[in-house]
Amino acid sequence: MRRAPLLLLLAALVPAAHAFTKAEMRAIAAHGPWPPAFARDPSNRASGNPDAIELGERLFFERRLSADGEQSCSRCHIPERSWTDGLARAQGLALTDRNTQSIANVRLQRWFGWDGANDSLWAQSIRPIIDPRELGMGARQVAALVRGDADLACRYRKVFGEVPANDEAVLVGVAKALAAFQETRVSGRAPFDEFRDALLKGDEAGIASYPEDAKRGLVIFIGKGKCNACHLGPAFTNGEFHDTGIPFFIEKGRVDPGRHSGIQKLRASPYNLLGPYNDAPERAAAIGTRHVRLEHRNFGEFRTPSLRNLAPTAPYMHNGSLATLRDVVNHYSTLSPDRLHADGEAILVALKLGEGEVRDLVAFLESLSDGGGTYARRRFAADCR
Ligand code: HEC
Ligand code: HEC
Repeated sequence: MRRAPLLLLLAALVPAAHAFTKAEMRAIAAHGPWPPAFARDPSNRASGNPDAIELGERLFFERRLSADGEQSCSRCHIPERSWTDGLARAQGLALTDRNTQSIANVRLQRWFGWDGANDSLWAQSIRPIIDPRELGMGARQVAALVRGDADLACRYRKVFGEVPANDEAVLVGVAKALAAFQETRVSGRAPFDEFRDALLKGDEAGIASYPEDAKRGLVIFIGKGKCNACHLGPAFTNGEFHDTGIPFFIEKGRVDPGRHSGIQKLRASPYNLLGPYNDAPERAAAIGTRHVRLEHRNFGEFRTPSLRNLAPTAPYMHNGSLATLRDVVNHYSTLSPDRLHADGEAILVALKLGEGEVRDLVAFLESLSDGGGTYARRRFAADCR
C-alpha cells in the first residue's frame, strides 16, 4: 500500500477512468440483457394475443370503466410519466394509501402491488376496477358495459369466443385483456444498457461514452452500497419484500402493514392462481401461492421496486414520501437500524456517503432511464366485425 498516496494524488489531478474488476463485470452483466425476451403468461389465455392487446389498450384509456365516467387506468398510470401520476398517494374516486406503481416492465414481476396481494397481472388489474377509491365498479357494471357496447362486445368475442353469461367471468376477461396490453409495456434501452453491452464486448469507445460519475455511482451500487442485494437482475428488483425503514404510518393511528396484509388478501382472493380463473392446464404457476407463509416479519415489508425509468416517476417509495432520488440516496446513507420495524434487514446499514458519492449514485440511477417517448398511442382499426 506504499504507493497509495501517489495514486491518490494522481487521481486528484486526473479523474482516472475506473478499471472494472472481474467480479464487478459479473455483477454488471447480471443487470441485462435489455430488453428481455417476451414470455407468455400461462395463467392468461389472452396473453400475447394481438386482439387482446388491442382490446386491453382501449380499456386502459376507457373512462366508462369507472363509476363516475371520469376515471381510467390511464388517469393514474399516465404514459408520459412512465405510467405513474407524480402524486405521493394516488387519487381516484378517493385518496388511496399508496404511490402509483409504473406498469412498465410489470410482466417481469411474480407478485403484484407494493404488498404482493395478487399473484398474476390479470388479478392485479381487477383490483383497481372494483376498489371504491379507484374506479369503483362492480362485476355487474363491467359486464353491462361490455354487453351494451357493440364494438367492445365484438372485440371481447374475438379474444374469448363469447361474452359469458356470468358477470364475474366477463370482469376476469376484461382484466386478462388489460394484462395482455400491459405485458407489452417495456421500457427502452437506457445509457446503462449501452454501457453494459460495451463493457462485455470490450468496446472502449462505448465504455468511454458512459459518464464517469455514473460509473462511480455504479461501483457504489454493486459495491459498498450492496444495493444489488435487492435491486438485482435486468429490472433491478428481486421481486421480494423488505423493510427499508420507510415509516408505515398513513396518518395518525392508521398503519399500512404492507406484505403482512398482502399475503392475507392474496389467500382470500377468488382470483388467485389456486382459483378457477387460472388458465394454465397444469398448476405449476400456483406453487408459490400455495406455499407462501405469513410471518411476523412481513409487517411493514414492501416489494422492491424496479429502478428502471425512475427519472419521470417521482415521488418515491410505497407512500411517495421521498420527493427526489437524492432524498432516497440520503435515506440509505443515514438510515438508523432502529427504524427497521420488521425483524430487520441485516444488509441495511447507514452508508454514510460523502456529498460526491451521493451525487454519483444519483447520476447512476438517472442513467437507468430511457429518456421517455417510447409509447405512442395506437390508432385503432375502425369498427370491429
Ligand atoms: C387511483 C389511481 C389508480 C387507478 C385508477 C389505477 N391504478 Fe393501478 N396502481 C395504483 C396504485 C396506487 C398502485 C399500487 C397499489 C398497491 O400496492 O396497493 C397500482 C398498482 C398497479 C399495478 C401493479 C404494478 C406492480 O408493479 O405490481 C398494476 C398492474 C396496475 N396498477 C394496473 C392498473 C390497471 C389495469 C388499472 C385500470 C383498470 C389501474 N391500475 C388503475 C393506482 C391506480
Ligand atoms: C434490503 C433490500 C434493499 C436494499 C439493500 C436496497 N433497497 Fe432500495 N428499495 C427496497 C425496497 C423494499 C424499496 C421500497 C420500500 C418502500 O417503499 O417502503 C426500495 C426503494 C428504492 C427506491 C425507490 C424506487 C421507487 O420507485 O419508489 C430507490 C431509488 C432505491 N430503493 C434505490 C436503492 C439504492 C441506491 C440502494 C443502495 C444504496 C438500495 N436501494 C438498497 C429494497 C432495497
